[in-house]
Amino acid sequence: MATEQFRITVFDTTLRDGEQSPGCSMNHQEKLRLAHQLDRLGVDVIEAGFPIASDGDFAAVKAIAAVIRRPVIAGLARACRPDIERAWEALKHAARPRIHIVLASSDIHLQHKLRISREDCLAHAREAVAFAKSLCDDVEFSPEDATRTDPEFLCRVLDAVIEAGATTLNIPDTVGYTIPSEFGELIATIRRRVKGIENVTISAHCHNDLGMAVANTMAAVAAGARQVECTINGIGERAGNASLEEIVMAMRVRHDRYPYETGIASEHLFPASQLLSEITGVPVQPNKAIIGRNAFAHEAGIHQDGMLKNPLTYEIMTPQSVGVPDSKLVLGKHSGRHALAIRCEQLGYQFDRRALDDIYIRFVRLADKIKHVEDHHLLELIRDTHKPAASATPLFEPLPTAIATAAAVSASSYESPKPFPLAPQTNAFAVPVTVPAEHPDQQDYLWGV
Ligand code: KIV
Ligand code: ZN
Repeated sequence: MATEQFRITVFDTTLRDGEQSPGCSMNHQEKLRLAHQLDRLGVDVIEAGFPIASDGDFAAVKAIAAVIRRPVIAGLARACRPDIERAWEALKHAARPRIHIVLASSDIHLQHKLRISREDCLAHAREAVAFAKSLCDDVEFSPEDATRTDPEFLCRVLDAVIEAGATTLNIPDTVGYTIPSEFGELIATIRRRVKGIENVTISAHCHNDLGMAVANTMAAVAAGARQVECTINGIGERAGNASLEEIVMAMRVRHDRYPYETGIASEHLFPASQLLSEITGVPVQPNKAIIGRNAFAHEAGIHQDGMLKNPLTYEIMTPQSVGVPDSKLVLGKHSGRHALAIRCEQLGYQFDRRALDDIYIRFVRLADKIKHVEDHHLLELIRDTHKPAASATPLFEPLPTAIATAAAVSASSYESPKPFPLAPQTNAFAVPVTVPAEHPDQQDYLWGV
């Protein structure tokens, strides 16, 4: 068990900052499904949305606050009363609500966007935090564009909001401009200069415009930040946010250098990634660290040779440790409902008997035509047979026993095992099951786990 000093709070903003990225908006049901998965993943804070942004966002935050009871549920608000009141209205029945206030602090933003002075900024920040604090004990404050803010002024803003009651100070690199050494120094400066900093949590929120969001986050942690803000698959504004799976696995695999702990159950990382891709229709780049389809693929003969002799030669973590299913279970026409159900569960779906029967009938027909039904076929089939809200329970529980059972089933009834990962064979998916025409460009993300 980690001592408090080394425990990192994982703040997931997939449903807020992630959702703001083009093509990633989610409806109410989809947000709830993902929130359940984030809960299973073990994130500490779910930023569920920006309640004043729309009635839909408000309703989704409220629903998530009502049903997800373990993690803190945060809602974003600008530094003004209507936003804060709306956020609180959505959050007030949460088991652990948090109001997250954002106000820009850089001169560029103050002059050109908000058209207010530094003194106005200080006053608004102080007032907003005090008002939020009168409603909710847990208040986070983010000085937007912190990394392009005069550090002297940034520290004054942070002094003011601590005095007004903020409990977490989030330092956003809003435009992805900083570099690791500089961001680490900024966190160190804040720790040195801001009054009362020892009583609050410092948080890092990094964007990936220069491809350094994760590196910057790690530098912040090394300098004393104890909350990381991140998203599944690194989705987010423009080039995205720091990727949750990369941060978590960097801490796990390089524990010698990053001796920090999170509450993340890493075997749920891949299911979370797949679920998000499935919901948004946005594919994961194949070479994406940790959860991309090539992350554990070995093609070069010399690598394959090493892998066969000892996986440690070319793998710094096992696929299983991040929830990539062991694809030894090959589904074919001899497979029964049991194996099919287990495979569906590994892919994040649980079906009742009747719903499974529907899938099974079509599965057997397909297996008759193509020898092996790969996971991407199965996912297409599931999507085509049961649209998400129907009888699929969006539940993905750890399945160690189920996987063991499946392995036993596969040993007796399947053809030669295939190494992970299986590449999609989109042409093989011929007659009996029709690929839904609405996502012609999405074959890639259903990549056959
Ligand atoms: O990038 C940013 O500045 C934000 C804030 C709301 C934290 O997303
Ligand atoms: Zn952001």
